[in-house]
Amino acid sequence: STSSFKAKDVEITRTKSPAAKPDVSKLKFGHHFSDHMLEVDWSESKGWEKPRICPMKNFQIHPAAKCLHYAVELFEGMKAFRGVDNRIRLFRPMENMKRMLTSAERSALPTFEGRELVELIKKLISIDVDWVPKASKEQPSSLYVRPTYIATEPTLGVAISTTAKLFVIIGPVGPYYATGLAPVKLLADPQYVRSWPGGSGGFKMGCNYAPTLYTQTIAASHGCQQVLWLFGDDHQLTEVGAMNLFTFWVNEHGEKELVTAPLDGLVLPGVTRKSLLELSKKWGEFKVTERKYTMKEVTKALNENRLLEMFGAGTACVVSPIDGLFYKNEMLKIPTMNNPAVTNRCMKELLDIQYGRTPSDWVELV
Ligand code: COI
Repeated sequence: STSSFKAKDVEITRTKSPAAKPDVSKLKFGHHFSDHMLEVDWSESKGWEKPRICPMKNFQIHPAAKCLHYAVELFEGMKAFRGVDNRIRLFRPMENMKRMLTSAERSALPTFEGRELVELIKKLISIDVDWVPKASKEQPSSLYVRPTYIATEPTLGVAISTTAKLFVIIGPVGPYYATGLAPVKLLADPQYVRSWPGGSGGFKMGCNYAPTLYTQTIAASHGCQQVLWLFGDDHQLTEVGAMNLFTFWVNEHGEKELVTAPLDGLVLPGVTRKSLLELSKKWGEFKVTERKYTMKEVTKALNENRLLEMFGAGTACVVSPIDGLFYKNEMLKIPTMNNPAVTNRCMKELLDIQYGRTPSDWVELV
């Protein structure tokens, strides 16, 4: 069995000065944090220590800590929802744990039992349960959960860390994009590359995100909110960084098809991605395909009026319609909003499960 911390060993210190809760109608993404956090320390000499739930606080960290120099850091993104019945649900948390453990392995950090971390996260949420916002039709708010894992050894060698810290912070969130739930435009420029075969693009490591901020400024200069990462001489569509990408079209054989890039190491294996593939396959109304596809196919489909919808999918952004691709110095109009039938259905069925309107074994009660 994996050596792991245990949820039953948790030591809890409650805050004496709870913070004021933000106005739910003004929630942004990632700006607000609850009163408590979770920490677990690991060292080669002592193994995993006891988990601690404590008041939210600043860290003391040695300036030579490896995470600060070589980005030995990984994270997860998951959400808890206050349902229509007022009960709190986590969405597929074990999927995030599985992925977190693959990221830990890729970062040469020690693994742990995912179930134990889920139980600790539930404990943390239950202590800060008043921080789980109540959603409204206009504002599908939720509690964002950010498990994070950093290498803390205070030495500068590029070497495996002998100490590490796992922590979880949580906080109420509204829409991911500042533009709310409006459709987004993407910069698709093959001169920028997010990932490559054998690289780390299929893992949720901080080092995949840092180089995308500069590109974000280029995207903004072309009126785009995000970057669609292309790969290869044939300009394959991969993902969008904060979300996976789905395209709904009539393919070259005249069949309606929902397509997304395969898990070949270039894209993040999104939990929302996986869930939408499973849901749409169950509908059985059109072909659902994970395969490589290229900008040549996309522009051809656009010219032949076969491209129907394009949307991003992720935990933070949920389902986000796309209405433009800036490609080869031209803004290609993506007609998603003419009839966002698949986009809206994906969003609705997901939210119905998350808010407890549709019973599902994808949710765990807190
Ligand atoms: C998510 O939680 O959906 C993410 O992709 C994290 C993102 C904000 C970088």
